[in-house]
Amino acid sequence: MKNDSIIVLLGPPGAGKGTQGEKLAEVLNLIPLSTGQVLREEARKGSALGKEAQEIMERGDLVPDALVAEIVRQRIETAGPSQAVLLDGFPRNLPQADLLEQLKGARPLCLVNIQVDEDVVLKRLTGRRYCVDCGRIYNFNLSTPKQGDVCDACGAQLVQREDDREAVFQTRFRVYREETVPLIEAYSQKSTFFAVNGNQPPQAVFEEISSQLEEMDREVNIPAVELEQ
Ligand code: AP5
Repeated sequence: MKNDSIIVLLGPPGAGKGTQGEKLAEVLNLIPLSTGQVLREEARKGSALGKEAQEIMERGDLVPDALVAEIVRQRIETAGPSQAVLLDGFPRNLPQADLLEQLKGARPLCLVNIQVDEDVVLKRLTGRRYCVDCGRIYNFNLSTPKQGDVCDACGAQLVQREDDREAVFQTRFRVYREETVPLIEAYSQKSTFFAVNGNQPPQAVFEEISSQLEEMDREVNIPAVELEQ
């Protein structure tokens, strides 16, 4: 992988972009950016950006393109010209793809689409909880914490993301179909696009992404790592 590449993770809500992105950033030494995560942090801090974004996120719509593009611009700038960047959650529509073209300059794009069925992601997201203190993620459909809804690691309360409630999920998935699917169709024409089967356990998804990245660039060698199942 060229060290000025921009890797873009695509896929529906709950596809596993965050899970895979975190591991890929670690093993490939990439600068990660999850636009959703940054927006949630800003909302927690109560900044002007966070206040503007919070209500939009809680109803499952997209935050204005210019706001998220500014977050991406800052991260690409911070990374510097010779550090690869991993984008999770940007771009999400065709206008954002145009903005990324402007922001990235000559950097090559690598486009990874994690394909997952709607019923699978619904189950994942309605079962997701996070620890209010340490941020650890649980999935009640896969494994339950030892003491009900209390974090095994630090004992703090586990809560559900507002936008993981089923009614909001339906909006997020509709937005994905209307805004992101056309983007994925356009990106699928590019030679640096590939798709993986995200219906599998996290480890198998990671191995599929790794082998596709290695195939795309013979200089890349991704070490075997273990992801939580
Ligand atoms: P964001 O936080 O990006 O939400 P999302 O894209 O809907 O993605 P998620 O974080 O819910 O899922 P994911 O694909 O990362 O999966 P994860 O690994 O977490 O954005 C939130 C909001 O911010 C948006 O709705 C919008 O309002 C705003 N926003 C963000 N970017 C924007 C942009 N560019 N433009 C405008 N607005 C923007 O996994 C999900 C769950 O499944 C976890 O519990 C995990 O443990 C589990 N899991 C993961 N992989 C697997 C697997 N293979 N098998 C079983 N379980 C799995």
